[in-house]
Formats: sequence, C-alpha cells, structure tokens
Amino acid sequence: MKTWFITGTSSGFGRIMVEKLLEKGDRVAATLRKPEMLEDLKQQYANQLWVEALDVTDTVRLRKVVDKAFADLSRIDVVVSNAGYAVFGAAEELTDDQIRREIDTNLIGSIQLTRAVLPYLRHQGGGRILQLSSMGGQISLPALSLYHATKWGIEGFFESIIAETAPFGIEITLVEPAGANTNFGHGSMDVSPPMNVYNETPAGMIRTARTNGGYQPTLDPKKAVQAMIDSVGLSPAPRRLLLGGQGYDLVHQALQERLTALEAQKDIAFAADYDTKTKESV
Ligand SMILES: NC(=O)c1ccc[n+]([C@@H]2O[C@H](COP(=O)([O-])OP(=O)(O)OC[C@H]3O[C@@H](n4cnc5c(N)ncnc54)[C@H](OP(=O)(O)O)[C@@H]3O)[C@@H](O)[C@H]2O)c1
Repeated sequence: MKTWFITGTSSGFGRIMVEKLLEKGDRVAATLRKPEMLEDLKQQYANQLWVEALDVTDTVRLRKVVDKAFADLSRIDVVVSNAGYAVFGAAEELTDDQIRREIDTNLIGSIQLTRAVLPYLRHQGGGRILQLSSMGGQISLPALSLYHATKWGIEGFFESIIAETAPFGIEITLVEPAGANTNFGHGSMDVSPPMNVYNETPAGMIRTARTNGGYQPTLDPKKAVQAMIDSVGLSPAPRRLLLGGQGYDLVHQALQERLTALEAQKDIAFAADYDTKTKESV
C-alpha cells in the first residue's frame, strides 16, 4: 500500500488517478480548489482519502497543506504535480493577467510544490515525484506559446534537480501526455480575445481547427493514468514518460530535426572557441 499526494484532482487525469488508487487500496492525499467535488469519493473511501483545498498559486497555503499532509499521514511515497491548464492565443493576443496566471499555475506552482515536499522526502529517505509536463514540453505549436513556456520551463527545472535529489533517494519522472479528452481542451482552457489579423496565420488556423472540432486526440485518459501509476513500479524511474502515439510521432520528428540542425552548425559552434595557440582573454 502506497500513499500519494496529488494536486488538481477535480477532473481529468487527477480525478481518474484518485479513483484508480482508491480502488486498488492505496491512500490518497487529494488537493483541489473545490474540495466538495470529491465528496462522493470521500463518502465511499473515508479511511483512504484525505482531502484539502489548494490553489497551487497560493504558495503560503501550499506549504501549509504539504506540512499538514505529512503530519497527518506520516509518510508520502509519491507526489503527483498535476494541476495545470492551457492558455490559448497568439502571444500578442494574450493579456498580461493570462500570462501571469499561466506561469503562476503551471510553472511556479509546480516548482513551489516540489520545494515544499523535498525536505520531507529527504527526511524519510526518498520518494517519487511525477510531474505532469506534456508532449508540449518537447515540441511546440503556434497559439500555445505560454503553455509551452511553462512546460519547457518545468522540464528544465526537473532536468537540473533530478541530479540534485538523486543522492537522497528521490526519483523523478516527467510525464508527457499527448492531447487527451479531459476538461483540458474544453472548460479548463483559457482562450485569449482574438485579433482578426491572425485569422489566416498558423495561430488563427489552429484556432479554427479547435473550434471546428478538427483536432481529435487519440490518447485514452484512463490508460494514460494507468501508465503513470505503473511507472512508479519501474526502477530506476524513467526520466520521461511519453504517452500517446500522436505525441511519440511529433516528439520523434522534433528531436530528429533538432539533432540535424545541431549537426549542421557544428563547425560554427567549434569555430567560436578560443584559438588554442593564441588564447585571448575576453
Ligand atoms: N489533456 C491533455 O491534452 C493534456 C496533455 C498534456 C498534458 N496535460 C497536463 O495534464 C495535467 C492535468 O490536465 P487534465 O488534462 O487532467 O485537464 P483538466 O481535466 O482540466 O484538469 C486540470 C486540473 O488542474 C486543476 N487546476 C487548474 N488550475 C489550478 C490551480 N491554480 N490550483 C489548483 N488546481 C488547479 C483543475 O482544477 P479546477 O477544476 O479547479 O479548475 C483540474 O483539477 C495538466 O498539468 C496538463 O497540462 C494535459
């Protein structure tokens, strides 16, 4: 039996994960902005489910909730940093508030959650963190620049701290789902006021495809969540868990293109080094 701490459990991957873990007999500390949304599960699994209200942009409350979870439950084996959403629109269409809220939620919220749990995981001799990134943490599409900024950002943060925390028995996996029909592309998405000048551009065309239902995700959210749960049994922890064939194809193509582009400018990269014979100071 494991104990899990999960953010953003009102819908989508978070809610499915809570249901699956409770069914299998694990203990779950579920956090969400509207705790009443888990009332049905609380009735059914009173002894296994611990619930607290948490908006991950509230760093002070986040630390209090993490402190309370470890105090009440003693040990937490797996922390799932799941809360997040996408803001949609060309960069100049977005409002300052939309930009700030997206970064506060997806990037700073995830960083601060990690910083809050690290002392406890270290003290208990280890633990696992699953960070919801996205295939959009390795590729990018027009009209999602701020979402990508947060997901590429969180990938950079974890790429660095994986090595910092490994000596303490803490293992981390970046989960990278492809598009999935959760509340993500629907109610959760924050859409910018459109500017007509973008209508015939890539950003505008993606907007039209979205509103026409032109994009059909193929990732099954329940299978994706099962893969996330199963990944905790893998040792060593996979650094990345890419989920969905659409994501695999897009990331594969993007990585190949990046490597080809890197190789093409190899001579320029090396030519910028000091000449070893006449090393100049700068
Ligand atoms: N579905 C996809 O296509 C997809 C693909 C790749 C990655 N992801 C990632 O997967 C994660 C979960 O998304 P999902 O697909 O399950 O979408 P979802 O159904 O919209 O769930 C998102 C969850 O995050 C919560 N949330 C948003 N802002 C929050 C905040 N400030 N504080 C606390 N909770 C907050 C939402 O709570 P409220 O009900 O209170 O809004 C909801 O519980 C996200 O990090 C997302 O970026 C999703």
